Parts: sequence; C-alpha cells; structure tokens
Amino acid sequence: MEKFEKNDKRTHYCGTITKEDLGKKVCVLGWAQKQRDLGSLIFIDLRDRSGIVQLAFDDNTEREAFDKAFGVRSEFVLCAKGIVRARGEGAINKNIPTGEIEIAVSELKILTKAQTPPFEIVENSDVKADLRLKHRYLDLRRPDMQRNIIARSKITNLTRNYFNENGFIDIETPNLIRPTPEGARDYLVPSRVHNGKFYALPQSPQIYKQLLMYSGFDRYIQIARCFRDEDLRADRQPEFTQIDMEISFTDEDEIIAINEGFIKYIFDNFMGKEIKTPFERITWHEAMERFGSDKPDMRFGFELKNISDAVKNTEFKVFAGAIANGGSVRAINVKGGAKFSRKEIDSLTEVAKQYKAKGLAWLKKVNGEVSSSYAKFLTEGENAEIMRLMDVCDGDLVLVVADKNKIVFDTLGALRCECAKRLGLLKADEFKFLWVTEFPLFEYSEEDGRYYAMHHPFTAPMAEDYEFIDTDPGRVRARAYDIVLNGTELGGGSIRIHTTEMQEHMFSILGIGKEDAQEKFGFLLDAFKYGVPPHGGLAFGLDRLVTLLLGLEDIREVIAFPKMQNASELMSKCPSFANPDDLKELGIAVITPDEEK
Ligand code: AMO
Ligand code: AMP
Repeated sequence: MEKFEKNDKRTHYCGTITKEDLGKKVCVLGWAQKQRDLGSLIFIDLRDRSGIVQLAFDDNTEREAFDKAFGVRSEFVLCAKGIVRARGEGAINKNIPTGEIEIAVSELKILTKAQTPPFEIVENSDVKADLRLKHRYLDLRRPDMQRNIIARSKITNLTRNYFNENGFIDIETPNLIRPTPEGARDYLVPSRVHNGKFYALPQSPQIYKQLLMYSGFDRYIQIARCFRDEDLRADRQPEFTQIDMEISFTDEDEIIAINEGFIKYIFDNFMGKEIKTPFERITWHEAMERFGSDKPDMRFGFELKNISDAVKNTEFKVFAGAIANGGSVRAINVKGGAKFSRKEIDSLTEVAKQYKAKGLAWLKKVNGEVSSSYAKFLTEGENAEIMRLMDVCDGDLVLVVADKNKIVFDTLGALRCECAKRLGLLKADEFKFLWVTEFPLFEYSEEDGRYYAMHHPFTAPMAEDYEFIDTDPGRVRARAYDIVLNGTELGGGSIRIHTTEMQEHMFSILGIGKEDAQEKFGFLLDAFKYGVPPHGGLAFGLDRLVTLLLGLEDIREVIAFPKMQNASELMSKCPSFANPDDLKELGIAVITPDEEK
C-alpha cells in the first residue's frame, strides 16, 4: 500500500480524456476495472465515476511501474501518472469515449488492494437484488448506478432552481412530530425524556406546510424525506423523498400551471426534450369509466366499455348475477390481442383473479373466425350487440369482466396494462402526463363501516357538492388532483380547508370527535383562529419522477441505500435489536418474537 500524497491530485477524470489531450501529462485516480497481461505489454482499464481510461505499460515503462502493474487485480485503487498518447490502429475501441487514446504510464501507485468482489462491477449485470443490496457500496460503483444517482442529483438541483426562480422559499420542517394522517402507518420514535410517549416520523410535511402558509410565507418548497410504514412495491419505499410545495391565495389552475412549468423545465434542462403543456385533464369519474384506474397509462387505448345494457336480459348467470347485484359487465378491446394463445389467455385469467374477479370471459377474431368463451351462453342478438359496441375487427381480443364495479374496474384496469405490456406498447421513452381531478372526498371502508379521507382530512370539498356532505358523503367531490405519468401516480395535492367550521365538520364526518380533534390537531385548529389564507399545494414523489425519466422500473435503482421488500436493509442489517440499557432508559419492554414462542 502506498501513500496518497499532496501531488497525487487528479488532473482529469478517466472518462473525459480525449484526442484533444494528446501529449499532455495527466494524473488519474480510480479503480482497476481489469488488468490484461500480454507478457511484455500490460493494460489496465482504470474506472472512476466518469468512465474508463486505458493505462498502458510496455518496454519503455519504468521497471518499477511495470512490476506494480503486473500485480494489479480488479478493484485495486490506483494513482497513475503519464502521457496521453494515441492508440495503435488496431487497438482503437469505438465503443467508449476514450477508445482512441491511452495513458503511457510513468508512475503507478497502488493506494489500496481489494479482494475479488462478490460480483463483477459492470453495467446491467443480472446479479440478484439481495446480493446487490448487501454490498450496495460495490453495486453503486456500476456505471449505470453511478449514472442514476448523478442524474438524481441533477434533477434535485434543477428542482431547487425552478422553485427558487419562481419565488418559492425553501423551509425545513421537523422529522420528530405528532402523527400526520396520510393514510399509512406511522413509524414511531420513543422519547427518553418523556417515557411512554412517542414521536412519529412525518408521512409528509402536510400540516407544517399549511402552518407556514398561515405564517405568511406564501410560497413554500421543500425536498422532504417522508416515512410510511406500508407494504412495499416497485414504486414504494418506507422512506422516500417528496418535492413538496404549497401556495397561498391560489386555486387548482395556478397550482397545475406552476407544476406543469416545473415538468417542462426538467424536460428542457435535463431530458433535452420539449414537452407540450398544458397536460390533458380528466375527472376521476372519467378515469375510472374509461380506464378502470385513477392513474391511467395514456400511452395506449383499450378503453373500458360498459356492455351491461347489451346483456341486461341475459340468462347467462355470470353476467346476469353481476348486474342483479348492483355491479356491471364491462369489456376492453385489445387490438392485436387475438394473437395471444389459449395458454396466454389462461394466464390473463390468473391476473384477473389476483384482482378478485371470479373469471374472465373472452372473444377473439382471427381471419374472420370468431371464437369465444362466453358466446355460446348468449343469444345471437346479445352477441351481435357486443360485437357492435366493442367494434370488433380482425386481430382483436375482447376481455369481459362481470362483477361489482370496483372489481370490474380494478381487473380491467390491470388487464389493459398487462396486455399493453405483452404487446410491447409500453415505450419507456414516451411520456404521457395526465391530471386526474375531482377525486371523491371520502372513501367508504366496508370493513370498518366508516368513511376515510381519500386524500387527507385537510382537503377542501368542491363548493357545489358541499350541501351533500352530511346526507351523502360518498358523492362529494374534492378539490384534489393527481399528476400521472405513464400509469404511475407521480404526485398529488389539493386546495385545503381554511376555516375552523369546515375543518371541524370534516373531522366529525371522519369520526374524529371534538375532543379527539382537539387532542390530535388542536394546534392546527387554534391556528385557524388567527387568520388563515386560502391555500393549496402538491407533492411529487421525487424517487418516482427520477425513475420514470430514466426509463427504469424500480425506484430502488435511483435510491443510494434503499430497503428490501420486507423493509429491511441488508447491508447494515437494520432493523436490529436494541440495547437493553437503551430500552430501559426509554421505558420500553420488548416482547421479542423468541420470547413469544
Ligand atoms: P401523497 O400521499 O399523494 O400526498 O404523496 C405524494 C407523492 O409521494 C409519492 N409517494 C411515494 N413514493 C415512494 N414511496 C412511497 N411509499 C410513497 N408514498 C407516496 C407519490 C405520491 O404521489 N401531503 C400530500 C401532498 C399534498 O397534499 O400536497 C401527500 O403526501 O409519488
Ligand atoms: P362458467 O360458467 O364458469 O363456465 O364460465 C363461463 C365463462 O365466463 C368462462 O369463460 C369464464 O371464464 C367466464 N367468467 C366466469 N366468471 C366471470 C366473471 N365474473 N366475469 C367475466 N367472465 C366470467
């Protein structure tokens, strides 16, 4: 191991050296990607965050440097000094930016040695997720991971610039707080000073950003960490980052315009692509009716059609039963889907079952011939009417689901996307933004027999629906909006309630009694007494935004140290058991799983 000294400073990043630098004396620092020993010639590919450069050692190299090069293995950390020279004709590598040059090394230092890593540090390797995450520091050395993390940094900086240029003030809000009701479970932090009491980690800065409006900051922005204890998926992590904004004296149109401006700014400055604004807007109701989803992917069609009327008198029990139960029969026409084999249609049925559908009826037309799983149960007239409604042409596959509306929407919404995926219609470089507006204010839980806020309890109802808030809460629409990109909910927000009366009313419908409300949100209700401006805002999921802009599928690819599906972190092995003395100080007794047995 050799000493890293003052004059060992990098002159160039490896990947940036080009023909322009021929003849220059350079000093590069990085990791040995690989070493090739050809006897009288040794080549080392040296890697840093910018890319790779070839170090060359030959007859003319100082003996000492040559001998050291001989011993270099993958991932050794090196400092190399030498002259940039052109590669010989046959040795040019057109695949990398530095492929026309190499460094004739005069001085080599091995700063540290390395064991053989558990996986090769290369782009797009198919190493298993758990091995990657266990050695995340190595995984992060891979060029694609470096690109992702650096891209995220650029997007974060552009975000700060945009909001700064538009008069927003960046304000930090606390991470040890009272619970904020965003609908997920809280992470709790025990208090040492107040034994038996707990802080919650914020599910979002929601209440604090509203309070900042009450304080007169007018335009707030924060790139905020949020914590939610919920079941994880490819687009969900227990801790994630929001681009969180709020404005006073505003309305839906202004918030939408500012955030469209933000997306446009990111496209101009990061993607180098123009994006057309305004984005399309549809109501929640329309989104459900046409796409079976409140976050529809607009890159393809296959829209839902309600065919209940065509089969309302049918004797086919599956369809008749669904309608009799207050449900419906709906269908999608998957253009080009007729090429799916029976086996593939069976696997679509399995997808349908995951969404609680009892089955999947289908029809396809190939070379003028119609085959179907359900046609034999219907009359000629009913069949003809479905063919007409669904506009069936050669090559089409019609998928039909009959059930309660929620199941029909969920199932067909998912099948739409599944079929598009199988037909190769989901292009990662096509960006279809959409605003979904007028969400229901409440969501009814059959299980709990009560209403929940669909967004959060601070969301204002639409004025024209307010009269139904006591008699028919389910029909009240909210001044809430989501921004959707390619079938992912990228962000969401609302205009907020800004009067005590309405906020108290809202709590009461949500089953939060006066005392309970005072206990949980007393500070907010108190603040209402002292002059609250009308206000509203929105939060983007930064992790999701970066993932989609980079054409990736899993948000872990843009998070330096993410958690596994089961919320554990394999590298540092957390969560972990607490030290008994610490627990004692916190006044906490733990029933460990082992003791339970
Ligand atoms: P919401 O709960 O819709 O709204 O969250 C806003 C956005 O945050 C992202 N997001 C997540 N990203 C990764 N992992 C998660 N577990 C996760 N949960 C949410 C999504 C989502 O659209 N306070 C409100 C915003 C407001 O009303 O202004 C809020 O948090 O992209
Ligand atoms: P069965 O009467 O169970 O043989 O079903 C006849 C056809 O209807 C089959 O193609 C089933 O897959 C389909 N099917 C069953 N339940 C449903 C449902 N809820 N929605 C749509 N199709 C269904």
